[in-house]
Amino acid sequence: MRHLISIDDLTDEDLRAVVARGALFSAEGGPAGARPLEGDIAGIYFRRTSTRTRTAFSAGALRLGAQIVSYGDGDLQLNTGETSEDTGRVMSRMLDVLVARTADDPAELRAWAAQRRMSVINAMSADEHPTQALTDLTTLLGRFGRLEGLRVLYVGEGNNTASALALALTRFPGVELELRTPPGYGLADRFLTRAAEQAARHGGRFAERHDMAALPPDQDAVYTTRWQTTGTNKPDPHWRDLFAPFQVGEALWEDSPKAVFLHDLPAHRGEEVTADVLDGPASLAFQQAENKMHSAMAVLEWCRRGPTGPADGAGRSR
Ligand code: CP
Repeated sequence: MRHLISIDDLTDEDLRAVVARGALFSAEGGPAGARPLEGDIAGIYFRRTSTRTRTAFSAGALRLGAQIVSYGDGDLQLNTGETSEDTGRVMSRMLDVLVARTADDPAELRAWAAQRRMSVINAMSADEHPTQALTDLTTLLGRFGRLEGLRVLYVGEGNNTASALALALTRFPGVELELRTPPGYGLADRFLTRAAEQAARHGGRFAERHDMAALPPDQDAVYTTRWQTTGTNKPDPHWRDLFAPFQVGEALWEDSPKAVFLHDLPAHRGEEVTADVLDGPASLAFQQAENKMHSAMAVLEWCRRGPTGPADGAGRSR
């Protein structure tokens, strides 16, 4: 029984295994009849809006043989004053796994995870979106057949998607990850430090700048994300002026003609990305969205059954 609250909860071996397993599910269209969560009950608690992550974990749990109990914002007695601690204690006596999007401090998720009955999965907290990063790596692995040595340019806010991506991708040898974030909207210091340390340890390169000049050429992937991260707002009324130069358009492909385009979605065409790019031939954004479900299945399986080799289960019944 394991929890996934941060990418840091995965060993290097676990990270590789979960990403490889998600890529296998993606290539084969699912678990191919295997039902490793048969008999489990998964709670799906989303305090904030979600299309992909909530559907991915609900559909993924059902495909793996679990049954689900779903809660939205306003459904729990948290709203009438029951403590978060008591909520977690009660749920852990009935559920086998809880997938929760709080968009708040992950300390709440850690408190829920302080027991040995129920796995807790972070479906997006304020600081990190770990299951998105696993999806992103699954998509890159599916496309390139490797993660080692990839060159990735991330353009946009240093939000929870960027944090998790930096924590995960810099663990692979030779990866070059460069972030271009608007001034004042960069990655938090602890993620910058951690990603730089990991990249150095694995022979890669990690950098963040706050402008769009002299972009690194020959990138394998260009990644952007929505400008208004779920559960946040920007007090500065002029924030759009700072973000405008960071729109991803076709001009970025002049120096990186072979780059694929990634976006965690939802997208706002004409804001962070042009429609030409999002709907163009380089875009993997909708495969990436589907991969949320394949990756969710890999995460659920890891949490409940432990590390699984690529050949285990999936494909067995074919
Ligand atoms: N990318 C992502 O987390 O999408 P949702 O907010 O729709 O779950």
